[in-house]
Amino acid sequence: MPSHVAIIMDGNGRWAKQRGLPRIKGHETGAESVRAVLRACKKAGVHYLTLYAFSMENWIRPKEEIAGLMSLLSRFLRKNAHELHENNIRLRVIGRIEDLPAPVRKELLRVIDETKDYDEGQLILALSYGSRAELVEAVKKIAGEVKDGSLSVEDIAEETISQHLYAPDVPDPDLMIRTSGEMRLSNFLLWQLSYAELYVTDVFWPDFREEQFAQALESYARRHRRFGDVK
Ligand code: IPE
Ligand code: IPE
Ligand code: MG
Repeated sequence: MPSHVAIIMDGNGRWAKQRGLPRIKGHETGAESVRAVLRACKKAGVHYLTLYAFSMENWIRPKEEIAGLMSLLSRFLRKNAHELHENNIRLRVIGRIEDLPAPVRKELLRVIDETKDYDEGQLILALSYGSRAELVEAVKKIAGEVKDGSLSVEDIAEETISQHLYAPDVPDPDLMIRTSGEMRLSNFLLWQLSYAELYVTDVFWPDFREEQFAQALESYARRHRRFGDVK
């Protein structure tokens, strides 16, 4: 069983288009998939779930779609915070949280704070997230430490990079799922996914529920993770 599953939740727009609905309906139905997968993780014992909810690149989308997504995020938090409390699940965000509209940011920070001591599982939302930006920020922090003398260049190791990312204590994902058939990373967790097993399904995110998640876990269970070895 993977301890950490990361998901690129893609295909909401195409799901809506197929049904002659506005794109936001796809995002709204996608929020139900988030609830379903969160519940499935609890059942399966997956401790960390990272969801790519909004990329830094997504800021170039039409204003109305961005506004719709932000208000959906607020509604999602209001509707689901109690479930995090009931299940002892900690909410975290990776990404440039400071880019988000103030009301959403406030709501997020409140739930993050209220759930910070929970230890049954972690829901990590990637919001205004870009992996290259995360690495740039890490490099700047490391360079700062070298400059002020608290770190020497010789001591920079892989762990040093990991320790300066947005969620330094979270183990790398074991399994990365992307819905809607696209076979690309779209600037998601480039460093952290080095040895993740990849699973791409043609199913659009709004149709990705417990059953589809179970299929991904089954596929993962059949993989042989060699990490460079010959076994
Ligand atoms: C994923 O669905 C959700 C976000 C990126 C916010 P899309 O909105 O990218 O849906 P498609 O790819 O256009 O179908
Ligand atoms: C990736 O999906 C980002 C999220 C799921 C939040 P996109 O739909 O933005 O990715 P591209 O543009 O197809 O690469
Ligand atoms: Mg997309």
